[in-house]
Amino acid sequence: MSGKTFYITTAIDYVNGKPHIGHVYEKIASDVIARHFKQRGDDVYFLTGSDEHGIKIQKTAQKNNMSPKEFCDSNVVDFQALAQDLNLDYNKYIRTTDDYHEKAVQKIFQKLLEKGDIYKASYTGLYCSGCECFLAQKDLTEDGLCPDHMAKPQEVKEENYFFRLSKYKQQIIDHINANPDFILPSYRKNEILNQLENIQDISVSRPKTSVSWGIEVPGDKEQVIYVWIDALSNYITALGYESEDDSLFKKYWPANCQMIGKDILKFHSIYWIGLLLALGVKLPKTIFAHGWITIDEKKMSKSLGNVISHKSILEQYHLESPDALRYFLMTTTSFGRDGNYSDEDFKSKVNADLANNTGNLLNRSLSMLLKYFEGEIKQEFVNDDAKELVDATLGAKKKVVENFDSYMITEAIDEVISLVNLTNKYVNETAPWSLAKDENTLIDCAKVLYNVAEVMYHVAVLMYPVIPDISQKILSQLGEEKNIADIKLDDLKWGMIQPKKIIDKASLTPVFLRIDSELAGDKKK
Ligand code: MSP
Repeated sequence: MSGKTFYITTAIDYVNGKPHIGHVYEKIASDVIARHFKQRGDDVYFLTGSDEHGIKIQKTAQKNNMSPKEFCDSNVVDFQALAQDLNLDYNKYIRTTDDYHEKAVQKIFQKLLEKGDIYKASYTGLYCSGCECFLAQKDLTEDGLCPDHMAKPQEVKEENYFFRLSKYKQQIIDHINANPDFILPSYRKNEILNQLENIQDISVSRPKTSVSWGIEVPGDKEQVIYVWIDALSNYITALGYESEDDSLFKKYWPANCQMIGKDILKFHSIYWIGLLLALGVKLPKTIFAHGWITIDEKKMSKSLGNVISHKSILEQYHLESPDALRYFLMTTTSFGRDGNYSDEDFKSKVNADLANNTGNLLNRSLSMLLKYFEGEIKQEFVNDDAKELVDATLGAKKKVVENFDSYMITEAIDEVISLVNLTNKYVNETAPWSLAKDENTLIDCAKVLYNVAEVMYHVAVLMYPVIPDISQKILSQLGEEKNIADIKLDDLKWGMIQPKKIIDKASLTPVFLRIDSELAGDKKK
């Protein structure tokens, strides 16, 4: 153990529809990061959950002739199933309808009321239920529509509670400027600093006559707490903030990484930070705003009918493990930028990287080890003659770690794939099959195969956070009996392969079958 804690959170999903690959993208990225930091020996806590209050849920429940709670209970099941479907290893799933959360949110509100940071005033504004927020006239399209939802916001005249966000404006600006890792990727920082220029106090309640589905304002039966205040608080209430047992909060807060989509960066880097400052709670180290996943270069939307779920992809390609989808989503774009999903790209990327480059490299080297040496690594095979390969392997590990320091997942993966490509080149150049033909060079063939096995051990461990199932298979084929999750990066050194029989014929199966290959087709039948 490194002795360090690492707390990572995701946005909590609205459960008014089914999960799609946009929701899934962020959960997978967070899972990858959580697994990587566990490999570093950190004590990781990974939180995800669902956002269940507000007008959007209230309206959809009504349409479905259900009470909002019944509706959430039935829909949340599909979101919770993501853990199993996508191999997400989180510690906790919070629902904002959980009793302890509702109570803690009321206490938070009460604290801010008592401090004078929440006050009552009347207000006229334009509310978009899609965004669950008030929009200014200048934010709308020429036709007066919300640009994200292309819907006309509702004109609202209400008596509301307000949070004195303007009081914290300068502190937020100073914090952003003083901490270069606070908003990542850094190219998103300026847009937030610009928004901060005009920031005003925000409405933090709605009258029940407009929205009834929410947490009641303490001491005011007519009002419910604004859904974003309720939702943002989840990151600390989940750890027991303002609950009887706050030991997890003391242990893990402040969060190391709060993973969210770029569309909700304002709520996280302005509103959330204002709230924490008002509460006197430490600020998270990094808010990471990832990009948007489009489908065939188009925004996913119900009206376009192009919403794709992870389920349909896994079913379409008869994938028993989510690894290929995890891999594709983590490599489709530089992490942080917008990325795209298309069936063609998916197939060609995973076939090229997982089946051809990585899978075949392992398979053909182990086949040679079986053919020429009965699958056994002997002491005399062990060597570090191939300096370029050894340095590249150790260098890849270093660069993976460096990239994960700023959550550059795609770049970290690229380092490993470059190592795989270099190793393929090494095999082609050394031609172990030719070396095996001559008694005098048989030992050189053995050394090449040992080197490849050593690289593949590293590849498996470095790729484990992204493709846990495939990585475990690679490791098992290399004769390692350990659970891959238990191997720490500090212990990963050249010389992992133990001299012994590592593979037999029966165990030598492809670690990843090409999508649409005949074998994968057989599996379908
Ligand atoms: N409930 C709010 C978040 C509250 S966090 C305190 C919300 N929910 S959401 O269901 O609309 O979105 C959940 C997450 O999924 C957000 O981070 C959002 O950016 C992300 N995505 C939703 N669609 C997406 C894509 N098409 N692509 C990538 N991520 C997107 O916002």
